[in-house]
Amino acid sequence: MASNDEEARRILEETWGTLDEEARAFLRSRTGIEEEARLKEHILEVQAGAFAVHKYRCVQNFSFLKLKISRMPAYEQLLKLGREREGALFLDIGCCFGNDIRKAVADGFPVANAIGSDLYAAFWDLGHKLFNDSPETFPVPFLAGDAFSPSFLQQSPPSHSPPPTPAPSLEERGTLTPLLGHVSAIHASSFFHLFKEAQQAALARSLAGLLSPAPGSVIFGAHGGRSRKGLRGEVARGLWRAEPMWCHDPESWRALWDGDVFEKGTVRVEAVLKEGHARWEGVSEDGGRPGSLIWSVTRL
Ligand SMILES: C[S@@+](CC[C@H](N)C(=O)[O-])C[C@H]1O[C@@H](n2cnc3c(N)ncnc32)[C@H](O)[C@@H]1O
Repeated sequence: MASNDEEARRILEETWGTLDEEARAFLRSRTGIEEEARLKEHILEVQAGAFAVHKYRCVQNFSFLKLKISRMPAYEQLLKLGREREGALFLDIGCCFGNDIRKAVADGFPVANAIGSDLYAAFWDLGHKLFNDSPETFPVPFLAGDAFSPSFLQQSPPSHSPPPTPAPSLEERGTLTPLLGHVSAIHASSFFHLFKEAQQAALARSLAGLLSPAPGSVIFGAHGGRSRKGLRGEVARGLWRAEPMWCHDPESWRALWDGDVFEKGTVRVEAVLKEGHARWEGVSEDGGRPGSLIWSVTRL
């Protein structure tokens, strides 16, 4: 049996082989490490640090190297908000190392208006280590907390008019609650699928409360989905997950946001399932097939 180190190296090689030149160049330029072997050692060291905090699958399979955010259809909408809406705030929730925020900032989203948030502050610190930067050279504020905790993010219905007070300053934030109704764009990737159906709905409601009512404000991301909503029993389980993932299908995801979380007709929901999974066993009781749900919810 391969040691943990060998297994990590094998998976890194596998992921590295899927990276295009843009992703590799981004890593070289952000880390300042040109030599491929040294860069891989550096990535492995950061991954080992993250595993000591919590073993997430997205960390195990190095998906943080892939510039995922910039491949999403809603990415241009995010950059446009950064260019055209004064003071537009961008929140990456469950941001882990902050790789997606770094990509958006590199592509022009104003660094002063981006915010990272995650359960584990240690992941954000490891992001500084990964990208060889610091709070001084990459001054995006980070808020540590549990997105399900009312003391960190109070659940509030979607706002229909601009909040009465301006967006709080950095010093006034402390938690996500002061940002209710103030956030123009929220990115949440590989996040919803950590939770079961009822929790996914609760999380969607909490994020909806943060979103600005201005038309064009957007929540978007990608995570595990299925062609029929339910448990992904057809995907072989890994060491990191004792139970099958609970997944929406594109239709149930649309219905959740348009009509349940937001009043019907007040948002446009795009959701597609990119089918396929490396650990797909090919059979399921209900004929459901696994894939990646790529989605956005835009206020009209
Ligand atoms: C699988 S990683 C996804 C990271 C990143 N968004 C990506 O797409 O690569 C899930 C992240 O969600 C964070 N997380 C898990 N539960 C959370 C919670 N209750 N509140 C906030 N963040 C949470 C984890 O710490 C982890 O960084």
